[in-house]
Amino acid sequence: MDSNKVLETIKAIGDKIDAEKDYLTELDNIIGDGDHGINMARGFQMVESKLPSLEGKDIGTILKTVGMTLVSTVGGSSGPLYGTAFMKAGMAMAGKMDMDLNDFLSCLDVAIEGVKMRGKSTQGEKTMLDAMIPALDAMRTATENSSDSKTVLAAGIEAAKAGVEYTKTIIATKGRASYIGERSLGHQDPGATSFTDILETIGSAL
Ligand SMILES: Nc1ncnc2c1ncn2[C@@H]1O[C@H](COP(=O)(O)OP(=O)(O)O)[C@@H](O)[C@H]1O
Ligand SMILES: [Mg+2]
Repeated sequence: MDSNKVLETIKAIGDKIDAEKDYLTELDNIIGDGDHGINMARGFQMVESKLPSLEGKDIGTILKTVGMTLVSTVGGSSGPLYGTAFMKAGMAMAGKMDMDLNDFLSCLDVAIEGVKMRGKSTQGEKTMLDAMIPALDAMRTATENSSDSKTVLAAGIEAAKAGVEYTKTIIATKGRASYIGERSLGHQDPGATSFTDILETIGSAL
């Protein structure tokens, strides 16, 4: 994927988030404060307005700009968390005009480390990490049998979806959903859901 395609894909992610806005907000209404869709859509709308200025830039600069924009325009915890994820990925891609499957997996790896650090969180706490970590693990495993990005991404998307289902079975111990304790059981995590939307969009872009 070259830098132009990365820009196109980011635009597509913004469109997907916008389409899922009400659903994400509905999910956050149940276990949080009902703003996840609104937060994400606002952030990606601002990102979209910056895309023209990023034409011709390297992928590192593009991803870092996306991250900084999310951090500065999204009020909720998802802004700093997704923002950190994109900024870390940007650092990993500094100066590169092309991104291959291995680059993508490295980006997701550092993104996860960024979210863990910034969120003081780990797998099994009913957060976006419960979709991100299984997705990365599944994609790494898939690369042992295939070097086709679409096939590998499909394995990641399937694992992310299973991760979203898993979030229904656990109690939140991080973020606003942790305030309601056991009442978060049975409900899926909005952030794990939005991450799955993002990964699906990347998969469709290939
Ligand atoms: N400490 C954390 N680590 C990882 N992810 C988190 C953490 N806190 C919250 N999240 C994610 O953020 C999502 C909520 O985002 P959002 O509603 O936009 O922000 P807020 O919780 O501030 O209202 C959750 O569904 C969860 O996936
Ligand atoms: Mg919220």
